[in-house]
Amino acid sequence: MKNSLVVLGSQWGDEGKGKIVDLLASDYDYVVRYQGGSNAGHTVIVGDKKYALHLIPSGILHEGKKNIITHGMVVSLEELIKEMNKVKDIVGNFEGRLFISDRVHLVFPYHKILDGLNEKAKGKKKVGTTLKGIGPAYVSKYARTGIRIADLFDPQYFRDRLQQAFNEAKNIAEKVYNESLNLDVNKIYFDTLKMFETIKPLVADTSLMLDKALRNGEKVLFEGAQGTMLDIDMGTYPYVTSSNSSALGLSSGTGVSPKLIGQSTVYGVSKAYVTRVGAGPFPTELLNEEGQKLRDEGFEYGTTTGRPRRTGWLDLVALRFAARINGMDGLIITKLDVLDKFDEIKVATGYKYEGEVIRDFPARLDILEKCKPVYKTLKGWDKSTKGIKKKEDIPKEVWNFIDTIEEETQTPVVMLSTGPERTEYVWVK
Ligand code: GDP
Ligand code: IMO
Ligand code: MG
Repeated sequence: MKNSLVVLGSQWGDEGKGKIVDLLASDYDYVVRYQGGSNAGHTVIVGDKKYALHLIPSGILHEGKKNIITHGMVVSLEELIKEMNKVKDIVGNFEGRLFISDRVHLVFPYHKILDGLNEKAKGKKKVGTTLKGIGPAYVSKYARTGIRIADLFDPQYFRDRLQQAFNEAKNIAEKVYNESLNLDVNKIYFDTLKMFETIKPLVADTSLMLDKALRNGEKVLFEGAQGTMLDIDMGTYPYVTSSNSSALGLSSGTGVSPKLIGQSTVYGVSKAYVTRVGAGPFPTELLNEEGQKLRDEGFEYGTTTGRPRRTGWLDLVALRFAARINGMDGLIITKLDVLDKFDEIKVATGYKYEGEVIRDFPARLDILEKCKPVYKTLKGWDKSTKGIKKKEDIPKEVWNFIDTIEEETQTPVVMLSTGPERTEYVWVK
């Protein structure tokens, strides 16, 4: 394996990235989050303890690893400190173990309020965001009214920027949405400076750090958040998140040259079926008992919001698309065990649209809405795959499932995950 690896979501998020990154982290020196924010909810289970990580990379539970929050993310200091407190028992001192880019943009309380107001105004057409202020924080960044951690080192400069950003948010709330912000800018100012004191020792030029690490042959693991189909450019727009959650966000999000980052191995994580939270197209969605069975067996409820996840059969049209745009070297199939109790398993190999079969994921929502999946039906395995450790113990029907995925996506399946625990996986290549 090359010295850097990207592990990212191939679907609409919640593929099990946290579990996979945690289990692979032992072989790496750095674990790096490069986009998104606390909209992510990455579950890591170690022994009888369960951690939901939102901002902190999923390598944090391993001793001696450097975890990096790069500038491609948007960070609420309040949530970061809360999360640090949750893992404090294990981590102890965060210095040398957690690094935060000086260029990272901050999420302020007004971003969260604007997220809610924006969703409310959309009515039935709402995106179903996590209400963590992610979209509005990226809007501030691109509108050049955002505030970076670097800006907090000069309290007067920060004061001026905050006042300007706050006035703008207040105007939007009042004039566009007819609501008041009900926030005190002075409180935000002093609270932020206070929280900054806790974070200050962790602030670093992470672009430089990563460039040096990669050139020195140190091992770097990049952890995607959300999933390819939620990518702002390539996902099911406008039902997407506000960052490049595919591999396309790696270079801009880390500040590492595309040439250097392009040498990484890329693994896409995909559930053995599909889930989605929030609104938007989902061609293989099951709104029947089978869908409920997937939800029950897979315990499909959001890590960040607790919302029930929408469920459906594995969509190989979307996966083929994800394999292509990410340049995937391998697929990691998670939650295989959830299919153990199904007599028959379906996978969509194409979509039927106006009498034609299409194999490439379309951009047009009106087409997607009319697409009917073309299914291949596979025999189930009628055995428990939970915790399988040896390749020889994998049922032949599972190999058939793997062959179909590989054939349709032209990507090797490298690992199966067969339970939520760190130890429940098997390499198949
Ligand atoms: P992430 O956002 O991609 O990290 O995924 P989440 O943590 O939001 O959701 C994945 C859920 O599935 C979590 O509850 C995990 O503990 C669980 N999980 C991960 N891998 C497996 C697996 O192979 N089998 C089962 N049954 N659960 C898994
Ligand atoms: P992880 O990293 C699943 C979805 C939201 C909504 C859309 C936009 O745990 O896989 P946002 O708050 O980002 O503006 O919401 O994106 N979404 C996720 N869905 N997993 C996630 O993260 C998600 N992060 C955002 O439900 O549909
Ligand atoms: Mg999640």
